[in-house]
Amino acid sequence: MTTAIPKDNHQPPTALPLSFDNRVAIVTGAGGGLGRLHALELARRGARVVVNDIGGASDGTGGSAGPAQTVVEEIAKLGSEAVADTNSVATTEGGAGIVNTALEAFGTVDIVINNAGILRDKSFHKLDDEQLHSVLAVHLQGAFNVTRPAFIHMREQGYGRIVCTTSNAGLLGNFGQSHYSAAKMGLVGLTNTLAIEGAKHNIKANCIAPMATTRMTEAIFSGDIGDTMNPALVAPVVCFLAHEQCPVSGEVYSAAGGSVARFFIGLTDGYRNPNLTVEDVAANLEKIRDETGYKVLNDALQEVRMTYEKIRDAS
Ligand code: NAI
Repeated sequence: MTTAIPKDNHQPPTALPLSFDNRVAIVTGAGGGLGRLHALELARRGARVVVNDIGGASDGTGGSAGPAQTVVEEIAKLGSEAVADTNSVATTEGGAGIVNTALEAFGTVDIVINNAGILRDKSFHKLDDEQLHSVLAVHLQGAFNVTRPAFIHMREQGYGRIVCTTSNAGLLGNFGQSHYSAAKMGLVGLTNTLAIEGAKHNIKANCIAPMATTRMTEAIFSGDIGDTMNPALVAPVVCFLAHEQCPVSGEVYSAAGGSVARFFIGLTDGYRNPNLTVEDVAANLEKIRDETGYKVLNDALQEVRMTYEKIRDAS
């Protein structure tokens, strides 16, 4: 049983203190689904928006300029400015083309929302190269292709906000989605390092892990769950992370049907032994896995320092 995609009847507040006046945003895959709603919310709040979309099917096949152009017209009706872009995020040239569209139309790029996505689900033992490469190209390389030229510009201007779209399929795993999961977890790694490299240039990078009833998920989210996962309720989280006042960087937020929560990677206190053997690992597995007192670390060097200090103090 499938569920109708909830109507976009989300009413924005009349006073909008978190404004995007004078900001230019690129939203990839904004011709439909979540991307369209992110683009509309940014535009409602004053951003000028590049509405990028190849206008293809859920599996990435086909293409049409129609969806991106339709969203540009919706934005015009809100009294805001937008341009359509039909480059594919899946190639280096396409990514550069999307950023050029922003620079030519609006002279800058302040915000990149990496949202474009396709699905080609297959259980791992049946996965072929074409399915693997196309999914990695759109989700993971796509974010590199668009963000790299934008990041160079953001560094020069000393300002940028990047939001990548990961998934609980990557963070937690999901049957039939090994390639999608790997691409989505790859985006978390990319975001973590963008947050570190962007910090001194006032560039912040975060991820959302959405759950929303769109054409991508309408066959999965059925009944009450499908009705609850209103895609319009993901945009507020994206817009907050894309805003100048966003205080966080290198983080992942679950966004679904009005629920917002933080995913994080924790490190347990663990077990130390200067003469560690295989048998020690087996005998101490409970202590190694014990989540009591886990730490959430900011970068790789922090783990190096912390682990070194624990080994030193234990000896
Ligand atoms: P959707 O299929 O409605 O939207 C994806 C959009 O990306 C489409 O408009 C499509 O034409 C566009 N696109 C695909 N390939 C492209 C390319 N090479 N270049 C430019 N545009 C391209 O799906 P939905 O649900 O809105 O997904 C948006 C993002 O959210 C995706 O990255 C998806 O993986 C992610 N996501 C969605 C979840 C959900 O519950 N809907 C759950 C977790 C992640």
